[in-house]
Amino acid sequence: MSDTQSQEAVTFLNETTAEFRNEMGELVQKYYSDEYFDEIGGPEAVVHQVVPDLAWREWFNGAMIPARQMHYVFEQGDPYYRDRDIIVGLSEQIRDEVKHANTLANISRRFGVDMDFAQWDQWLDEDVAEALVAQHQAAMAPEYEGPQYSAVGMQCSTEIIAVHTLHRMANYMESSYPNAADQMREIANDEDDHVHVGRMIVERFSTPEDIPVLREITETKRERIENMLRTRYERTME
Ligand SMILES: [Fe+2]
Ligand SMILES: [Fe+2]
Repeated sequence: MSDTQSQEAVTFLNETTAEFRNEMGELVQKYYSDEYFDEIGGPEAVVHQVVPDLAWREWFNGAMIPARQMHYVFEQGDPYYRDRDIIVGLSEQIRDEVKHANTLANISRRFGVDMDFAQWDQWLDEDVAEALVAQHQAAMAPEYEGPQYSAVGMQCSTEIIAVHTLHRMANYMESSYPNAADQMREIANDEDDHVHVGRMIVERFSTPEDIPVLREITETKRERIENMLRTRYERTME
């Protein structure tokens, strides 16, 4: 480990990402079960209900959060030398997420949802749009000045659940729509790189005093994700 990394941050990340991987895997198995997907109406309904929102999030979280983090690296770090690996990683993440959004939009189109990101009011109802915008604004961590806060709110948390969700949907879609399932798995394969760039940011930019704040952001995120999954599940199954 170099002297530019904080040992406290490394320990924190090792603990929380391991916990997130285990817990989110279990939550997705429980709340995105085959029974739940059958109940909402099978593969076609899963695409209608889950994929357009996911595409929107891939685009807006995936482009705007790394862009904001790059701005902080420029202001607080060393974008040309020490932190150029972070700048490269974030640029690659933006490229990947725009590609993911377009792939998911293409899947949605094949299932009859006509998505156009520049005209998104045409395919999102108002309540869903508001909820997505609110989630996005929370993920930007606007009250904190630094790239590490949104990194734990997104790359080191949301991206982990995205991997589980995409694999779960792919397994469910496999027998009826194998191409869509393959495309979902391909998207999931990129997400580990984004977790990695998030870890680099947290390790390099966090001070020991940041750790309780980062822990709180992670906990809040975990609760919100579980809440969202449970609410949708209970609304359908009970
Ligand atoms: Fe993505
Ligand atoms: Fe990602």
